[in-house]
Amino acid sequence: MKTYIVKDYDEMSKKAASILAAQIVADPESVLGLATGSTPVGTYRYLRKWHEEGVLDFSGICTMNLDEYRGISKENSQSYYHFMVENLFSHVNIKRENTYIPDGTRKDSGAVCREYEDLIQRKGGIDLQLLGIGRNGHIGFNEPSDCFTEKSHCVSLARSTMEANKRFFEKAEDVPKEAYTMGIGTIMSAEKILLLVCGSDKAEAMYQTICGPITPEVPATVLRLHKNVIMIADEAAMSKVKSE
Ligand code: GLP
Repeated sequence: MKTYIVKDYDEMSKKAASILAAQIVADPESVLGLATGSTPVGTYRYLRKWHEEGVLDFSGICTMNLDEYRGISKENSQSYYHFMVENLFSHVNIKRENTYIPDGTRKDSGAVCREYEDLIQRKGGIDLQLLGIGRNGHIGFNEPSDCFTEKSHCVSLARSTMEANKRFFEKAEDVPKEAYTMGIGTIMSAEKILLLVCGSDKAEAMYQTICGPITPEVPATVLRLHKNVIMIADEAAMSKVKSE
């Protein structure tokens, strides 16, 4: 794992955006795996800016998002679809038909997940997967578990994840309890992975990810087995690793 320790959120965002930008320039038909949450917001802001300045062309890019809440529609302002439109898609020249996110309104979870996996295969796999990390070490919505999941699937969200995500919803009862997510195997089959970690509330997850045993109890630990991971973490997220 190649690790960059940066001062703060802005430095992390700029560096992450430049790695994504390099991918887009090197292969204008890249398949990018994208993530949501507060962590990548600044990264998308830089990508938008560079597009506006004429540096980045998204016309040949295809995106596959990591996950989506089950039971909420694209129009819901808390859907990950809506997040992607607001933070990136509506600001760049990406073809909307080349942006893929599991459909949270579909109830037939087996079919949704199978089709998503087939789609990733048909697109030739993911060239660069962007990832954040949950406070409990989850990636995508792969929660701590007793085994690493292979493919896209439907998950019940951990109580701590619902607690962390309730800040985005008006009422705690509105937080979805389930989601569709790429599996650990799907994530691990990406050519390259870019992991972003920011803030002291991720320090324990970071410590476990880097120093703990590789275990599905802390899903991000599996990334140590991937041959091409770049991690950008700020000093606050690294505080526990450095103090050991
Ligand atoms: C959610 C997403 C993850 C994300 C995590 C951390 O659970 N499914 O993909 O990495 O939250 O979010 P944040 O970046 O807001 O801390």
